[in-house]
Amino acid sequence: MSVKNFWHTLSAPFFALAPMEDVTDTVFRELVLSTANPYKLQLLFTEFTSVEGLCHPKGREAVAHRLRVNESESDLLKQTGVKLIAQIWGSDPEKYFEAARFIAENYSFDGIDINMGCPVDKIVKQGACSALIGQHNLVTEIVEATRQGSQLPVSIKTRTGIKQHQTQPWITHLLSLNISAITLHARTQKMLSLKPAEWEQVALAVSLRNELNEHIKIIGNGDIENYEHGLQRVAETAADGIMVGRGIFANPWFFASDGFVPSLNQKLDLLEKHIRLYAKTWGQSRNFSILKRFFKIYISDFTGAAALRNELMQCNDKDQAIAVIHYFRDTMPD
Ligand SMILES: Cc1cc2nc3c(=O)[nH]c(=O)nc-3n(C[C@H](O)[C@H](O)[C@H](O)COP(=O)(O)O)c2cc1C
Repeated sequence: MSVKNFWHTLSAPFFALAPMEDVTDTVFRELVLSTANPYKLQLLFTEFTSVEGLCHPKGREAVAHRLRVNESESDLLKQTGVKLIAQIWGSDPEKYFEAARFIAENYSFDGIDINMGCPVDKIVKQGACSALIGQHNLVTEIVEATRQGSQLPVSIKTRTGIKQHQTQPWITHLLSLNISAITLHARTQKMLSLKPAEWEQVALAVSLRNELNEHIKIIGNGDIENYEHGLQRVAETAADGIMVGRGIFANPWFFASDGFVPSLNQKLDLLEKHIRLYAKTWGQSRNFSILKRFFKIYISDFTGAAALRNELMQCNDKDQAIAVIHYFRDTMPD
């Protein structure tokens, strides 16, 4: 059975919410989808998931939550036409083969993305993620193994180099592979996310693509603050798509219709929905404290926000947090 490659149907410019560990689980993706104007958001990614983990029954138990897709998210994906891509990481081509086969047999993702960008020490030491930059032969094997494991389209998310930009040789190599898209986070491994992204590297990747392989989409990533900023980057670089990471923390309505400004009640409603859905989805299996990083994104820019946030940070479970929100609502001035 041949699988349709959705990448060919995307029209530029398209927008993606970045894969983010402990952030873009099925719960948060559903919330972002529920606030988005479908013209403004086309792609979602799972958190990165270890191919080693996916290859063993025990390991699977430990990592499968990263690939979970709630039925309610799945329904919204169908309604909106937004595509969901599973992101995987590792260093052994055989494990990629098995993991890709497992994903294709057990889930309904639209594509597989390979993480070649994460700069975290403990991952890099395993020869994975950004440690793959410049490892041309191994990367060719990994992509081939992933393609053989499933018929899903394969994409790569990467950085520009290790210590220095190596955009020219690195992207030239990636453009020789049988992949559908490259997301370029416009920083080296060494830059982490501390220094500003250097978008001229995205422009360079686009010009290489235009010369070498017009079938591969180029997505730029790094420091996009709002939707208009993304469009400006497209105008400057001619990238096909824009990926938004931390910008969603500043505004969960990042992909909402033009001019939409959430009211205080809408912020509280979305937070409450997030807390309830998180508890329903994960029960005790994911720590409640992971939710705390989200409080600031909903609870800001109104009178009493800091005090409310403070109280929420003291909560240890859903019921306490909901009670705090309800008390705030009941006592807030009209
Ligand atoms: C909390 C957090 C978790 C992340 N987890 C992943 C991940 O699982 N996979 C990945 O490819 N990148 C991950 N990233 C990197 C982002 O996808 C993105 O490339 C980076 O944040 C730069 O984009 P931004 O400047 O728009 O935030 C993560 C970033 C953050 C802040």
